Amino acid sequence: MEVVIVPDAAAGGELIAEAMAALLRRKPDALLGVATGSTPVPIYEALAAKVASGAVDASRARVCQLDEYVGLPSGHPESYRSVVLRQVVEPLGLSTGSFMGPDGTADDLLAACEAYDRSLAEAGGVDIQLLGIGTDGHIGFNEPCSSLASRTRIKTLTEQTRVDNARFFDGDIEQVPHHVITQGIGTILEARHLVLLATGEGKAEAVAQTVEGPVAAVVPASALQLHRHATVVVDEAAASKL
Ligand code: GLP
Repeated sequence: MEVVIVPDAAAGGELIAEAMAALLRRKPDALLGVATGSTPVPIYEALAAKVASGAVDASRARVCQLDEYVGLPSGHPESYRSVVLRQVVEPLGLSTGSFMGPDGTADDLLAACEAYDRSLAEAGGVDIQLLGIGTDGHIGFNEPCSSLASRTRIKTLTEQTRVDNARFFDGDIEQVPHHVITQGIGTILEARHLVLLATGEGKAEAVAQTVEGPVAAVVPASALQLHRHATVVVDEAAASKL
């Protein structure tokens, strides 16, 4: 695992956007696995700026989601499909056809999970998977004690994650869904390159356990230690407990 400490979130966003641009220059139809939450926003802004300036052509890029809430209508502004469309697909000028995600509105959610795992494999696998980290060490929505071999499946959110995410729902925890579909840790580990960005002091403990603690299901992000090409980018605040 490579750990890169950057001065601030903007520098982290720029560094990772440049890695994505380099990938797209090598492989124009690369499958970009994107994450949601506030942390990756500087990455998407920096990548969109590179596309706008002509520094990279992303017109053939493909994008896939890491996770999704169950039960939010797909047009809901906080469904992860809507967030990724707004923050990544539209700014990069991609069509919705180049974008895939798990269907959190499906009648048969188990089938939707299996179908999503299959479509990632059929698309040739994820070339670069961006990850944030929850304050409890979760990646995607793999909460503590998720199996390190898990596949895309339904999970129940912890109270802590619902509290953390309530800010996207007018601060009202009652509006935060209880259930989600998330790529499993085993699914995530199949991506060719994993890049986790963590910023701010609130992530410092989770980062320390991810990087310096044992590989343990209680800290799902520690599974990155098992990957042959994992990069953890942290700002100074998030690195403060390393
Ligand atoms: C959610 C997402 C994760 C994300 C996490 C942290 O739980 N499912 O992918 O990493 O939030 O979000 P933030 O970056 O806003 O702290």
